Amino acid sequence: MRSTVGWQLEGPSSTLRRTPLERRDLRPDDLAVRVDYCGVCHSDLHAISARGDGDGDGGRPLVPGHEFTGVVTETGPAVTGFTVGDRVAVGNIVDSCGECAMCRAGQENFCHAFPTLTYDGVDRHDGSVTLGGYSREYVVRDRFAYHLPAGLDPAAAAPLLCAGITVWEPLRALGAGPGTRVAVAGLGGLGHLAVRFAVALGAETWVVSRSPDKADDARRLGARGLVVATDPEQLAAARDRFDVVIDTISAPHDLGPYLRLVAVDGTLSHLGHLGPVTVETMDLLVGRKRLSSAGSGGRPATAAMLDFCAEHGITADIEPLPSARVNEALDRLRRNDVRYRFVLDLSDLD
Ligand SMILES: NC(=O)c1ccc[n+]([C@@H]2O[C@H](COP(=O)([O-])OP(=O)(O)OC[C@H]3O[C@@H](n4cnc5c(N)ncnc54)[C@H](OP(=O)(O)O)[C@@H]3O)[C@@H](O)[C@H]2O)c1
Ligand SMILES: [Zn+2]
Ligand SMILES: [Zn+2]
Repeated sequence: MRSTVGWQLEGPSSTLRRTPLERRDLRPDDLAVRVDYCGVCHSDLHAISARGDGDGDGGRPLVPGHEFTGVVTETGPAVTGFTVGDRVAVGNIVDSCGECAMCRAGQENFCHAFPTLTYDGVDRHDGSVTLGGYSREYVVRDRFAYHLPAGLDPAAAAPLLCAGITVWEPLRALGAGPGTRVAVAGLGGLGHLAVRFAVALGAETWVVSRSPDKADDARRLGARGLVVATDPEQLAAARDRFDVVIDTISAPHDLGPYLRLVAVDGTLSHLGHLGPVTVETMDLLVGRKRLSSAGSGGRPATAAMLDFCAEHGITADIEPLPSARVNEALDRLRRNDVRYRFVLDLSDLD
């Protein structure tokens, strides 16, 4: 085993503590990556709260972090696509069966045998619990590491690997582009990248937010404007206007007001808070509207997104912090006090 150090949840609290960790010895197709920057995703908060609520995980270790960039420090003997010193990026999937129809179609994120998640997943070979990127080293199968294109800042690019790809795939699949109108609900980590992508793809893009003070940011990101989600008049004026509504809201919420923004035959893509939802079918019936969801991305789409970001100069708006301030970052994210992604600098773990 290899030794490293990371930020692990301790006991029933919601506090992460600096903890020595073990990584597996390299398999033939593994890379060892020195993790330099890891984004703080709202899903990390959900995972931490689920432990706090006693979700019955019997003390399974939790080290969050599933959007990171770093440098290859060692390669297994069968690795051909990477060499020591390469800049790489890793997202929230680190393995899949490779054989099912979804994997063969390049949708490893929908693997029938379920993809191996970057943290709180189960390794398909040795059954160990995966520990995430809030740590100084990660060992990853080469297929699930991506070359970080030259020109992308490694700290600001880290959030592309979860927040970015999660909104990129549905935007592409739903045809966002010239002649379409896109609304992004919730201007946070996912939301601000969705705005950048939709604008760069050529769609007329708007933000729907309960935070009117984000209007200037929305325009700076390229949106036409911001619809205040708590203002019934503004919602009524925006009724039936959007071919695609990308819902990145991190809390359970009524889908009705957002479905009413969708145009005839348009789609509400519900990506944020996952779990059971109640839908008034009349909100779908009137306008033949569609409700969809998605998560993460396959390998081809992830690589294509990174190329698109390099071409268009797209990265996240970040607030970098030394990793020792991880608990402060999580507290502020919980309070919606970030514009628009915390990124941990793991170099303080050396
Ligand atoms: N499908 C997937 O694979 C996937 C991947 C990554 C993340 N996620 C999920 O996506 C969600 C967003 O993640 P994130 O990292 O972008 O979070 P985030 O940075 O905290 O942004 C979430 C945004 O949602 C809005 N919001 C928060 N609470 C709200 C409430 N009670 N009512 C209405 N709006 C609210 C806020 O935007 P405004 O201030 O603009 O209203 C906030 O900025 C999380 O639930 C996360 O777990 C899913
Ligand atoms: Zn995430
Ligand atoms: Zn599969």
